[in-house]
Amino acid sequence: MISDPEGVQFLQWCLPRLHMRWPGFRKVRRQVYKRLNRRLRELKLPSLGTYKTYLEDNPGEWAVLDALCQIGISRFYRDRGVFQHLEEVVLPHLARSLSAHGEKEMRLWSAGCAGGEEPYTLAILWRERFESRFPKLRLRIVATDINPDAIHRAERGCYRRSSLKELPAEWIRKAFIAVEEELVLKDEYRARVTFMIQDIRERSPEGPFHLILCRNLVFTYYDDEYQRGILQELSNRLAPGGALVIGKLESLPDGSWDIEPWSAELKVYRKLADTTSQ
Ligand SMILES: C[S@@+](CC[C@H](N)C(=O)[O-])C[C@H]1O[C@@H](n2cnc3c(N)ncnc32)[C@H](O)[C@@H]1O
Repeated sequence: MISDPEGVQFLQWCLPRLHMRWPGFRKVRRQVYKRLNRRLRELKLPSLGTYKTYLEDNPGEWAVLDALCQIGISRFYRDRGVFQHLEEVVLPHLARSLSAHGEKEMRLWSAGCAGGEEPYTLAILWRERFESRFPKLRLRIVATDINPDAIHRAERGCYRRSSLKELPAEWIRKAFIAVEEELVLKDEYRARVTFMIQDIRERSPEGPFHLILCRNLVFTYYDDEYQRGILQELSNRLAPGGALVIGKLESLPDGSWDIEPWSAELKVYRKLADTTSQ
């Protein structure tokens, strides 16, 4: 079993080599230890010290370690205040502006979508609050994640009640069917979301997007260099005037970017309307 001092020392050694940052892992480190313990057993290695040597001798193992460090926690309507702000301010503004310009589609990207909780929350929110107000505007959501298991779970659309406990009860009743212990999302909500397996460090889906959610991933786990490169890419994928939402406890790297705060408290940003880097 990995002791905490041994685990901390190992993470502080390996994370910078993966372009990841230790403070992001402080709270979830025990989850990583469990996976590391399993990996040590598979490789029949007695300690993290020997695993370090193994990594140095087997460069291919770094990709395995990278995957062990991907944290997959999510839930529907996570950070209620953020979704309320999207409902009350951001989505009405975007929908009115797109409708005024005769646009037929609003495009959203959920980056690091885990098991689909975040993009499906957006799909439910749209259907329950906006569809009848903006009948000519179609919603398309692209949701990406590096983890194929997460994407398969998302495509199944079946959830335990615990991951839905923050979602308004009325929406649960309308959007889900109870099947044994699970709640299954109805097809009409799923149809709006397209899932893709993608590593945000290497690829991003075709834009431009009117709203991008990149929460509890890049700005928690990756180092400054990667945060800057990915932020630039996110900004390139945003339509002028489009919104970017990051995690409530995250912050953007220092520097001048072509986005401005929309709600500083809720970590919602808006791409400057007069830039066209797409
Ligand atoms: C902590 S979860 C956050 C889920 C959701 N955005 C939320 O805030 O509830 C982070 C997700 O990012 C995914 N992820 C980690 N590294 C990634 C990468 N390089 N590219 C794309 N997704 C990644 C993980 O698999 C995981 O599902």
